[in-house]
Amino acid sequence: MFKINENYLKLPGSYLFSTIGKKVAAFTEANPDKPIIRLGIGDVTQPLAPAIIQALHSAVDEMGRAETFHGYAPDLGYSFLRETIAREDYEAKGCQIGADEIFVSDGAKSDSANIQEIFSNDCKIAVCDPVYPVYVDSNVMAGRTGTYDPKTEMWSDVIYMPCTKDNDFVPELPKETPDLIYLCYPNNPTGSALTKEQLQVWVDYANKNGSVIIYDAAYEAYISQENVPHSIYECPGARTCAIELRSFSKNAGFTGTRLGFTVIPKELMCGEVSLHSLWARRHGTKYNGAPYIIQKAGEAVYSAEGKAQLKEQVAYYMKNASVIYQGLKDAGYDVSGGINAPYIWMQTPKGMGSWEFFDYLLEKANVVGTPGAGFGPSGEGCFRLTAFGTYENTVAAMERIKQL
Ligand code: MLT
Repeated sequence: MFKINENYLKLPGSYLFSTIGKKVAAFTEANPDKPIIRLGIGDVTQPLAPAIIQALHSAVDEMGRAETFHGYAPDLGYSFLRETIAREDYEAKGCQIGADEIFVSDGAKSDSANIQEIFSNDCKIAVCDPVYPVYVDSNVMAGRTGTYDPKTEMWSDVIYMPCTKDNDFVPELPKETPDLIYLCYPNNPTGSALTKEQLQVWVDYANKNGSVIIYDAAYEAYISQENVPHSIYECPGARTCAIELRSFSKNAGFTGTRLGFTVIPKELMCGEVSLHSLWARRHGTKYNGAPYIIQKAGEAVYSAEGKAQLKEQVAYYMKNASVIYQGLKDAGYDVSGGINAPYIWMQTPKGMGSWEFFDYLLEKANVVGTPGAGFGPSGEGCFRLTAFGTYENTVAAMERIKQL
């Protein structure tokens, strides 16, 4: 008789954004006359930029001709894209990352879930709290998190690093030394950022303690302040302790097109074994490469036209961020984020629970957001709104919220 991976049974409820999707679908069915504004999941709304569409069209045409047809992509990515990324995202920012240290993938969500596979099952993970749920759930599935306490909403073998208003959303170094430290900056969900000096503290800590930092930089395109690093490799020492995850979803609108990459420097070693070679082995075995046409679209993100068009797109979303930030402030809420990230984080009013506020906002304003508690226990009493809606919807949502 076969057996299942019982770790899956330990997962409480369904994936956060599936739960929200179901609640919203039920509300819409019961209230077809009430138009909903969705500022919940961080999904983009602006169309792909013209430079990207042009690259897609010509890559599709290439696929239709025998002389330019492409079959399986190289499992680690086409060199035209890896070299472009190394030059534009790293060399241009003074970081030493070679094209052969870049692994092209179908996005940062899968990479952030899969990266734990190359580590031992008895590694202890540390996460910020609140946190993007994929980091914890993927470790639950692997059996690395111990038992779940429904009262505290915490796993016995996970080190939680609270990031709240009280510590300005900056995690403190944990008392117990973790093996793997997940950091996402600019942060999802709180919209906060770390300065280079603050990130350097983590790099030094990881090198001193033999920990690996899994650094999710999916939102780096939204950084507006000078002293906020775009990559962890801007910090000296990161090549021996950090893996970086990047996405094309948020900077270039690829949420439906799927493209991302992971960087593993060759100096990142566990004794004699390089993590780079383990991830290359895993990628080669389990992945057949992002499609040629999508990698060509990714290359266009770095063209002069692509860069100019995407700068405008990011500015569009950041204008929404300031509309939300100001709108909530005017309505009397306690707000943060939205300066280096497309997320605005607010404290729920009058001691309302975050799911309670979710229902209230849905019913009274027909606006969807994300309850802070869905990201971890320290998210209780908080709520996230995304700047990825259309400008018109964002303005309308704020008008509705102000009228509550
Ligand atoms: C979010 O809303 O937190 C993100 O869109 C989720 C994701 O990128 O997978």
